Amino acid sequence: MTTQPAVSAQPYTVQRYVADVAAIMDRNLPLEEAVKEIANAKRRFVNGGAPLPPELLKQHPIAPYTRNLVHRDPKDRFTVIALVWGAFQDTAVHDHFNWCVVGVVSGCAHVVNYERLDDGSTPGKADLRVSSSTLQPAGAVAALLPPPRTNIHKMCNGGRGVMVSLHTYGDPGDKATAYNIKEGSYASIDLRFHNLEP
Ligand SMILES: [Fe+2]
Repeated sequence: MTTQPAVSAQPYTVQRYVADVAAIMDRNLPLEEAVKEIANAKRRFVNGGAPLPPELLKQHPIAPYTRNLVHRDPKDRFTVIALVWGAFQDTAVHDHFNWCVVGVVSGCAHVVNYERLDDGSTPGKADLRVSSSTLQPAGAVAALLPPPRTNIHKMCNGGRGVMVSLHTYGDPGDKATAYNIKEGSYASIDLRFHNLEP
């Protein structure tokens, strides 16, 4: 008789995902390793995890896309945000201040990556061009390492229905650098959490 490994019957909820991210951070791994492990946990969540609770799936009536705060680490090490995208909704071209792990929960994301053509020597100015454009179906996970790596990108709903993605950031998740391609400029922007607003 062979012994089967025990398989947890417990659904992998977003709360369990958050607890796993906290446990990974508690281990004080080199950042690259920690981000890899967080991406593995995210893969588990977006491939058969429990559905997100309905309050995190509420869409803001007029925002360009909806950002609902799931969890802010009490030790300020990471933030988890559920993004809900209607048809044709998208972000600005942007970059983050720290690492980021993104998983597509449902729908299909269209991600456009950009590269800088300038040498970065003029503050506030950036000359960008598209370097790649990919469709990320439900279950896909992408991990971005922090500056000095640049990860300038734009995320869009790549389908016609509602898309949901779960983002984990190594910062409070309320600021990003937004790029204006036409003007060749960039600036810091504030980002909202729609589920915390009245
Ligand atoms: Fe992003």
